[in-house]
Amino acid sequence: MKIALIGAGNVAYHLSKRFAECGVKVIQVFSRTQSRADIVAAKCNAEAITDLSKISRNCDVYLLAVSDSAIPEVSATLVKLGFKSKLIAHTSGATPSTTLSESGCSRFGVFYPLQTMSKLSHPDFNKIPLCVDSINETDLALLTELGLKICPNVFHIPDTQRAVLHVAAVFVNNFANHMFHIGKEILDASDLPFRLLLPLIQETVVKLDQGTPEEMQTGPAKRGDLETVQRHVELLKPFPEYQELYRMLTMSIRRMGEGK
Ligand SMILES: NC(=O)c1ccc[n+]([C@@H]2O[C@H](COP(=O)([O-])OP(=O)(O)OC[C@H]3O[C@@H](n4cnc5c(N)ncnc54)[C@H](OP(=O)(O)O)[C@@H]3O)[C@@H](O)[C@H]2O)c1
Repeated sequence: MKIALIGAGNVAYHLSKRFAECGVKVIQVFSRTQSRADIVAAKCNAEAITDLSKISRNCDVYLLAVSDSAIPEVSATLVKLGFKSKLIAHTSGATPSTTLSESGCSRFGVFYPLQTMSKLSHPDFNKIPLCVDSINETDLALLTELGLKICPNVFHIPDTQRAVLHVAAVFVNNFANHMFHIGKEILDASDLPFRLLLPLIQETVVKLDQGTPEEMQTGPAKRGDLETVQRHVELLKPFPEYQELYRMLTMSIRRMGEGK
């Protein structure tokens, strides 16, 4: 199977490495920026291009690993260049596959790795759920086959369900990470090192193997230690935004504890 990778950001970087490791042939990597295309193309021994009109017509799948907002524009350009009937799939959790059909693609799908990826991270494709979708059975089979070449956990998740999955992912990853950021700011203001919290952060996640998040919830809000909650709110006076967040999250934990 031959792939063209369009985009040279975080996801393209890790997909190109993984494709190469698993013997999937990436023919070309496109980026608007030559140096970025070069870096990603070098990972999979592909040609680096910065001109979409130079893209090969001989690929089985054209993977769009570009920013969500660029998917309509880039896919419409591919259609104009004559790729209308080629299989074009994007890697976005939040974008419906139909965004591609609205751009004029007649064969379209999704190839969404459900993992946070940045250039410095080391995503383990043996554990990542890969969500694929296409309304065409042959194209769905092709994307599933491609997915199975790079990771064992491939799921067919249609647009409506993937949208829900993505919202949940924002809570457990983006928002959880934002909480780590806030924790760090609070410690920084008192000259305490963030690394003191790392074992706690790790254990919070590791113990989810033993039970549900609801079962694993601890802390003053869960216990109903309202005096401790009040002391924390006082301590957070220098951070009014975090004080408000603390109150909201405390109420959310209490409401869930009451089964509401
Ligand atoms: N990072 C994650 O954790 C993650 C996980 C799963 C799925 N995704 C999805 O994967 C996709 C890529 O995410 P990413 O994190 O790899 O993004 P990223 O690192 O920000 O890279 C975005 C890429 O899109 C290109 N791009 C942006 N606007 C463009 C335009 N108008 N025309 C052509 N290229 C354009 C950029 O090109 P230049 O290099 O030229 O600037 C860059 O190569 C997104 O749909 C995202 O939702 C991300």
